Amino acid sequence: MDYKLTIIDYLSDELDLDRSFVEDVLEVPPREDMGDFALPCFRLAKAYRKAPQAIAQDLADKAKEKGLNDRMDRIEAQGPYLNIFLNKDRYTADLIRYVLEKQERFASSDEGNGKTVCIEFSSPNIAKPFHVGHAFTTFLGDALARMYGHLGYDLERINHLGDYGTQFGKLIVAYENWGDQEALDENPIKELLRIYVKFHQEVKDNPELEDQARARFKALEEGQPREYALWKDFRELSIREFDRIYDRLDVSFDSYRGESAYSDLIPPLVEELEEKGILVDSEGAKVVMLDDEGLPPCIVVKSDGSTIYATRDLAAAKYRYDTYKFYKNVYVVGLPQSLHFRQVFAVLKKAGYDWVDNCVHVGFGLVKFPEGALLSTRSGDVVYLEDLLDEAVKKTKDIILENNKTRDEVMTEQEIEETSQAIGLGAIRYTFLRNGREKDIIFRWEDILDFEGDSSPYMQYAYARAKSIIRKSGYTEEEIMAFEPVRLGEHASFVLAKSIAQLEESLKQAVKSYEPSIFARQVMTVCRNFSRFYNQMPILAAPDEEDKKARLSLCLASANVVKTSLNLLGIKTVERM
Ligand code: ARG
Repeated sequence: MDYKLTIIDYLSDELDLDRSFVEDVLEVPPREDMGDFALPCFRLAKAYRKAPQAIAQDLADKAKEKGLNDRMDRIEAQGPYLNIFLNKDRYTADLIRYVLEKQERFASSDEGNGKTVCIEFSSPNIAKPFHVGHAFTTFLGDALARMYGHLGYDLERINHLGDYGTQFGKLIVAYENWGDQEALDENPIKELLRIYVKFHQEVKDNPELEDQARARFKALEEGQPREYALWKDFRELSIREFDRIYDRLDVSFDSYRGESAYSDLIPPLVEELEEKGILVDSEGAKVVMLDDEGLPPCIVVKSDGSTIYATRDLAAAKYRYDTYKFYKNVYVVGLPQSLHFRQVFAVLKKAGYDWVDNCVHVGFGLVKFPEGALLSTRSGDVVYLEDLLDEAVKKTKDIILENNKTRDEVMTEQEIEETSQAIGLGAIRYTFLRNGREKDIIFRWEDILDFEGDSSPYMQYAYARAKSIIRKSGYTEEEIMAFEPVRLGEHASFVLAKSIAQLEESLKQAVKSYEPSIFARQVMTVCRNFSRFYNQMPILAAPDEEDKKARLSLCLASANVVKTSLNLLGIKTVERM
C-alpha cells in the first residue's frame, strides 16, 4: 500500500513543498478527526516568513484550487497543521485488493536481501531441564527469526548450547559411581539431574570427589576417549530431549554449535589478544582491563590455565563473523547477563573488531508465578516448560469441551485434540510476546486463557470466526477473492483496513527494535477491529447481496492477514474453536 507515497507526491508536486521536508515531517495524527495524515507547518515559518497557521491555511486553499486526487477526500487546515483525509471507500477497497493479491507474502519485503543475520536463542544447558527461563528466549528468538525471514534476511539460527564447563567432570564422576544406563536412555535429563544432585550430596562427606571431577574435566579437555565418549553421550541424549520440545513448539535451528565447539579457537584468540597488547596479568589470570568503559576487567584465562564462559563467547563471536560475515549478530539472552555481554563486546572492540557494533544483546525479564498457579511441578524451584505446555493444553481442552456442548458444528475427538494443542501452545507463546520484553512476566492462567482478553485465544478466535462466516456464506474463497470491495467506507471497516495496513510498518519497527511486542500489539488491534467490524456491519445478514459480497472480501482479507501475522509470532490458527 503506497498511500503515504501518493500523499507525499501530491504535497510536493501539486503544493510545491520540498519533498524531503514532507517525507521528514508527514505524520499519522493521534486522532481521527485530525485526518489520516497531517503535515505540521512549523518548520516552514522561517522560509515563508509567515505564521504556521497562515501557511496551513494557504496550503489548504491551494489544494482547493488545484483539486485533489481520487485517493483523497479533503484537505483542511487546523491550526498549524494541514490535515489530509483519505477517500475511505477507495482506501478500503485498495487495501483488500492488496492483501488478497499478496496472500502470505503480506508485509514481506526484500530489505534483507543479501544480508545474513545470526540469531542466537534458546541455548539451554545440556544435562539440565528445559525450564521457563529458556522458554522466554526460545519464543522471543523464534519470533524475531521469523520476522527477519519475512523481511528477506538470510538467517542463521544458532543454539549456543551450554555443553562445556567443569560440571561435566562432576557428571562423569557421578555417572561412573551411581549412573544407570537404562534410566539414562529412558529419560536422559531426569537421570543426569538425579546423579548431579547426588554428586552434590555426596561431596559434603567426601570432598575428594571434587578433585576427581576436576581431573576428569581436564581429561575431557585433553580429549581422553572415556571422558569424551561419556560427554558426547550426555550431549546427544540431551539434544534428543530438547529436539522433542522444539518439534512440539515448531522451532528449529541451523546450528547447535555450543560452547564446546570453540575450544580449538581459543588458543589462537588468546595469542592474538596478547599480541595486540590488551591482555594483562592479574594474580596469575589473564584479563582485559575495561576501566575506560566503566566495566570490571574481563577474565580471559583463569590462573589455572582454564577458560571461562566469556572466553568462549569471544571465540564464538569471532567465529560467527568469520563464517557468516553477519549483518547483525543477535543474542537473545536474559537481562541478568547484560554485564557479561557488555564486557565481551568491549573486549572485541578493543581488539579492533569493528563488526562488534553489529552485535546486539536482546535482553528480557523474569518469569514469575503467583502462589499456587501450577498444579504440577516436578521440583520446587524450577518450572519445566513441558509441564506448563501440558497444563495449558489441558485447561484449553476443558474450555473447548464445555463450549462443544452448545456448538452448532460439533468437533471430532481428533479436532478437539489438535485445537487444544494449537490454542494452548499459542496462549503460552503470546504471554511471552505481548509486553515489552524487558518487563517481567507474571504468569496467570486467568489472563493467558481469557478468550476475551489480551490473549492469543482471542486472536485465534477472531480468525476462526472469520473462517466460519466464510464457510456459511455460500461462496468459496476463490469466488470471494473476485468480488468488488465496494461501499466499505464506513467507520468500522475503514478503521479495520487502516489497522491492517499498519501491520507492515509495525513489523519493521518490531525488527528494528528487536521487540516482537510492537508487532504482536498491532495484530491484536487488527483482531479487535475485526470483531467490531462484524458486530457493527452484519456480513451474512448484510442489507443486500452487493454489501454482503464486499463485506465478505474484507472478512477474507482480515482472516488472511491474521493467519500470516500469527504465524510470524509462531502461533498457529485453527479453522474453528
Ligand atoms: N546457556 C546459557 C544459560 O542457560 C545461555 C547462553 C547465552 N548465550 C551466550 N552466547 N552466552 O544461561
